[in-house]
Amino acid sequence: MTPPTPDAARAPAGSCTAVVGLQWGDEGKGKIVDILAADHDAVVRYNGGANAGHSVVVAGERYALRLVPSGILYAGKLAVIGNGVVVDPAGLLEELAGLARRGVDTRGLVVSDRAHVVAPYHKAEDELREDLLRAHAAPAPGGGESGELGTTKRGIGPAYADKAQRSTAVRVGDLLRPETLRRKVALACEFKNRQLAGLRPGFPPFDAGAVAAALESAGERLRPMIRDTTYLLHTMLAEGRRLLFEGANATLLDVDHGTYPFVTASSASVLGIAAGTGVPERRIGRVLGVMKAYTTRVGRGPLPTELTDATADRIRTRGREFGTVTGRPRRVGWLDLCAVRYAVMVNGISGIVLTMLDVLEGIDELRVCTGYRLDGRETDRFVPDGFELARVEPVWRTFGGWRGDLGRARRLGDLPDAARRYLSFVEEQSGVPISYVGVGPERDQTIRAE
Ligand code: IMP
Repeated sequence: MTPPTPDAARAPAGSCTAVVGLQWGDEGKGKIVDILAADHDAVVRYNGGANAGHSVVVAGERYALRLVPSGILYAGKLAVIGNGVVVDPAGLLEELAGLARRGVDTRGLVVSDRAHVVAPYHKAEDELREDLLRAHAAPAPGGGESGELGTTKRGIGPAYADKAQRSTAVRVGDLLRPETLRRKVALACEFKNRQLAGLRPGFPPFDAGAVAAALESAGERLRPMIRDTTYLLHTMLAEGRRLLFEGANATLLDVDHGTYPFVTASSASVLGIAAGTGVPERRIGRVLGVMKAYTTRVGRGPLPTELTDATADRIRTRGREFGTVTGRPRRVGWLDLCAVRYAVMVNGISGIVLTMLDVLEGIDELRVCTGYRLDGRETDRFVPDGFELARVEPVWRTFGGWRGDLGRARRLGDLPDAARRYLSFVEEQSGVPISYVGVGPERDQTIRAE
């Protein structure tokens, strides 16, 4: 294993930093993006939609952001929604209004004219597809799960599917061209109404005129924010500005590299940045991977290290492990370093942000998965197929736990020895240095380890 090399602390002028999740989401990306935003000129979302829920706590106030990049909480920074994102215009307006009510200045928001629109029929389709899958649930071949995917029902998958279909897609720029919008929505409704009635006989059809009118009026309100963000970002780079890319969802939910089919519909790893913003990969200097000190997953799909006992309840309660978007209790498991090593490799991670270390306080013995047993053999490779992964048995390492309130630690030296041993093991296994450690939800409950 290659020894960890130090991660460059400050991004040079004209450079880019990326923050991505190394597990199944909810790793605490919002907080680190919020911290790093101070050092950047724009925070850019490149994938996903309102399925993401980024929590940031500033001065005791908790903000749950869905579509709006976390950088919005810093006055004077641009918050850019890139072309790779799918945007529910009504949901975006609602989120902006909620932020404005709490005194947040939202004028820094910019939305790509090439981002795709999530329309009401996408949400209906998401729901009906899940219902049909659930009705057809049966044991999957070789074990594992079949049935619904457990989506957030925000219309994310159907909107990306229409992007690939082209004929039924609407882009944010279309919201500003009423005739084009009406024509596109009429065609989309023609397809969707047939499809939805096929999924659930008697499903009430969408009225194309009403859908187009609602989108047009949302577009009018969003007009000042809609731009060509590719040129905007390249102009900023040419001027020496620094960009921070905020990954939504996470690597193991990536449509290509995650535990397919139990994934989201977009490129949620660092690999999505180029396609989702028009900024080429070679511009990205620093790639930070965010991971929890344990593992969580929302929705369905394999979780090899899953816990279902009192320890799971303890971690869920202490870590507030309930979905930001859906409120669903998150599934909880021990740290899976086999999965983390894979995510580090796929993203080319230069530094790790390890969050929620404080949550593990008071557990006598901690377990960490370092590999899998599959068909009688041990492997140190991750198994990214969703059905195959359901068949693995973890290979464990155990660690002594620690006691005491970590929430006040501000330097690595403030942590108990057992916690530091745990961190060293993560570095050793991943081959990447830990740059930051999270010991609580507040901005300042963060140890800079580099
Ligand atoms: P979708 O993105 O709504 O299609 O959901 C697909 C799967 O990804 C479901 O299991 C969701 O729970 C999961 N998912 C999507 N976004 C997030 C996220 O930001 N955090 C955790 N899980 C997510």
